[in-house]
Amino acid sequence: MPAFDVSAIRAQFPALRREQDGTPVVFLDGPGGTQVPERVIDAVTGYYRAMNANSGGSFVTSRATDAMAGAAHAAVATLLGAADPGEVKFGYNMTTLTFHVSRSIAASFAAGDEIVVTTLDHEANVSPWRAVAADRGLVVRTVDIHPEDGTLDLDSLDAALGPRTRLVAFGYASNALGTINPVGEIVRRAHAAGALTFVDAVHYAPHGSIDVRALDTDFLVCSVYKWFGPHLGALYGKAAVLDRLPAYKVRPAHDRYETGTPSFEAFAGTLAAVEYLRDLGRKYGDGADGAGTGEVRGELVAAMRAIAGYERSIGRRMLDGLAAIPGIHVWGIADPARIDERTPTFAVTLDGISPADAAAELGRAGIFTWDGDFYARGLIERLGTYEHGGVLRLGLVHYSTAAEVDRTLEALAHLAAGAPLGSRPIAR
Ligand SMILES: Cc1ncc(COP(=O)(O)O)c(C=O)c1O
Repeated sequence: MPAFDVSAIRAQFPALRREQDGTPVVFLDGPGGTQVPERVIDAVTGYYRAMNANSGGSFVTSRATDAMAGAAHAAVATLLGAADPGEVKFGYNMTTLTFHVSRSIAASFAAGDEIVVTTLDHEANVSPWRAVAADRGLVVRTVDIHPEDGTLDLDSLDAALGPRTRLVAFGYASNALGTINPVGEIVRRAHAAGALTFVDAVHYAPHGSIDVRALDTDFLVCSVYKWFGPHLGALYGKAAVLDRLPAYKVRPAHDRYETGTPSFEAFAGTLAAVEYLRDLGRKYGDGADGAGTGEVRGELVAAMRAIAGYERSIGRRMLDGLAAIPGIHVWGIADPARIDERTPTFAVTLDGISPADAAAELGRAGIFTWDGDFYARGLIERLGTYEHGGVLRLGLVHYSTAAEVDRTLEALAHLAAGAPLGSRPIAR
């Protein structure tokens, strides 16, 4: 397998050339949204130049728009392992898609039916279910975590499942702690209880390969702006389930779930983002995974496995480094031997400095991180850190480098020792 050439990859992302006070910045904000390669920018602006039109017209720009939109749905279907492009629905973002489809999903639920959510999840996979439950008199049950390592408590899942469970909504991976859930196993238990499954893959999607058919989930959602594309949400729904649900749509619309005129320019950028990943699979993927076959799904799987392998190496480096700094606490899975069970998204707290102050200090030093709860409110409350400003989140993606990890660790060591970074770049 060819070596993962992170310099060549970074050269494709114009934003990564940014400097602050004469020093390159470090983007550790990926879980909040990633940077995009040049080809995505070109595709978005190129759409306005070459084919800007509404759908369904008998003229060349409209036909080109429809062809491109079809290709974008097919590309995302292939990325997610779906059989049919019609099983992919685009929307403004994951939150809006989830609020929208939750209304269709719950339309057949009766008062007293139950929905299961989890403490580990982003609120976008909790609040819509609570809202629809309030509308229809449903009961919401919440699966707990093991607070010591931030994994989902599967005994608590079993206790939450019952004869009236109609839906289990859970995440593929935690956007705060990085924990990867045993998705296939949770789907299996939910289906055994007769429930539908709704998987939030927003955090996981940039870090690994997804196969909705192997998982057998009924729904899965992700956000293209978290995997190197434009601001757009994507929903996968099993055709058989989508077809039987009532859809909230205007009468003449031909699609039952995509409402109104979409952001076609974002569709064009999405297609380019999938092509970027495929290219990465061709260049750095393993032949055994499908690289070099010319087959799109295989090359995308190879890309995501190559990304996961590279991220494991820089993720381990981060965990080893964090363990060596006195005064830092890592929330979630901290054992480098368990790197396969997490994404390279690290939640930390530092003695003597709040997450907000640490993020501000790091930001002044050109290291971009997030602090707070990242809308994983229930989790941060459960961990007892909410009153203390939540956690500081360090998010690596495949364009992050070992040198950036080292520079971040050095800055954190300063902060944990009580030394402010000020506006000075950290000397290397
Ligand atoms: C795990 C997870 N779920 C859902 C969302 C919400 O996604 P969107 O911004 O597309 O609504 C986010 C955004 O940060 C997230 O990280």
